[in-house]
Amino acid sequence: MKGVVLAGGLGTRLRPLTAVTNKHLLPVYDQPMIYYPIQTLVNAGITDIMIVTGGNSAGDFLKLLGNGKAFGLKHLNYTYQEGEGGIAEALSLVEHFASDDPVCVVLGDNIIEGNIRSAVRAYRHQGGGAKIILKKVSDPERFGVPELDGRSVVRIEEKPELPRSEYAVIGIYMYDAGVYEIIRTLKPSGRGELEITDVNNAYIESDEMSWEELTGWWTDAGTFESLLRASNLVAETGANKLEMKHGAEVTTQA
Ligand code: DAU
Repeated sequence: MKGVVLAGGLGTRLRPLTAVTNKHLLPVYDQPMIYYPIQTLVNAGITDIMIVTGGNSAGDFLKLLGNGKAFGLKHLNYTYQEGEGGIAEALSLVEHFASDDPVCVVLGDNIIEGNIRSAVRAYRHQGGGAKIILKKVSDPERFGVPELDGRSVVRIEEKPELPRSEYAVIGIYMYDAGVYEIIRTLKPSGRGELEITDVNNAYIESDEMSWEELTGWWTDAGTFESLLRASNLVAETGANKLEMKHGAEVTTQA
């Protein structure tokens, strides 16, 4: 399984902090933001990783991360997204790197307290398709929101005015090599982007989607409020813990 960290986009919601640098190079407590999603993959045993960057400061990722020594890696792969065509467009750029292997994709501004080892293990046994991870939140309208029927996800809505559940689809996704064919069929959304939610809905429609609920806190860090929240959470409890105090790291669903 290969790992992907998506760190493109323009970070417009964080201007002026992102006027001269990339959002994922900003500090979250004591580390640059991008350290956390890379560590999430490494803690799950995924060491063959590609970073998708973009914008003017793409070269700074190489200066900061090099070959990934800070994470015990021997090598890191990089690619460049021109413009801000959306998460699914950024993911399409890794096709040549991933080849026929499944990928675990982590959004560069998503930080977790615990780890996703057991979710990755479960996905490996699933034999194809996709997996998403859900977390109960107080503000689901900011995210992709699943409509659940018992234990099945019926559909995901992107930033709905009236969320159909209290869950957010967090920015950690697992896909088989069929994902690129799905992305090729997508049309840009109202915000002009190829949406990862459309990719996930395609897997749901073909009945190839599983999900798990994350234990421990999760946050994005793409707005002033969530960036502050992320720093506070990391300072208070630490992120990317290999062992969680309160039991299993994720609750496996059917
Ligand atoms: O954080 C989880 C949420 O992330 C999900 O619940 C949503 O379904 C999903 O659409 C996404 O929502 P956001 O609107 O918050 O995504 P944002 O535009 O902030 O992008 C998140 C990361 O994806 C960003 O840190 C870098 C990467 N990205 C994004 C875009 C638009 C790229 O690499 N390229 C892009 O063109």
